[in-house]
Amino acid sequence: MEQNNSLTTLGLKLPSDPRWVNIAEMNLSDILIDHAFCEQKAATKCITLIVKYPDLDFLVDTLTPVVTEEWGHFQAVKKEMEKRGIKLTRKRKDEYVAQLGKCMRGGGSRYDQLMEDTLCFALIEARSAERFKLLSENISEESLKDFYHQLMISEALHYRNFIEIAEFYNPKEKVRARWEELLIQEAEIMRNLEVRKDRFH
Ligand SMILES: [Fe+2]
Ligand SMILES: [Fe+2]
Repeated sequence: MEQNNSLTTLGLKLPSDPRWVNIAEMNLSDILIDHAFCEQKAATKCITLIVKYPDLDFLVDTLTPVVTEEWGHFQAVKKEMEKRGIKLTRKRKDEYVAQLGKCMRGGGSRYDQLMEDTLCFALIEARSAERFKLLSENISEESLKDFYHQLMISEALHYRNFIEIAEFYNPKEKVRARWEELLIQEAEIMRNLEVRKDRFH
């Protein structure tokens, strides 16, 4: 029930595979490494949007503090890694994000592109928030419960930020319709994605 409520709040159509938390916990170092890369990407993607749309004040003002937060998350994950003697590896392919990218439509107006960009990030934030929630509720290490709980709150707010930006520059009904389509595609990606022991998504 709790699970369904959180899915409804985030809009997601398919809960994560329940095996994922156990797999993640058994492979915590891999998951922390992959998570660190996710936070790096989150920060750099926000910067990319700010650079791409510098004249859009609402977008710039909303995302500037998000860059700082995402980099703070990276630092926090790095700290958890250091406590455990884990080092960052070379960057690796993110299959989930690569597949989401293929769902994005090209062309259209500049605001159409902005809608695609922001909804794609909203999906990643929503899925991340769902996974942090699962970790915070199920991981056995006490200090990590709170760590993941705080991240869940933060990523759920970022999800809202991206939806708000999409709706600020586009008609709400248009954003809602596209969001519904993308949620269905995201669920399909999750359904077919292999549950890997070394990936956050
Ligand atoms: Fe983050
Ligand atoms: Fe985020």
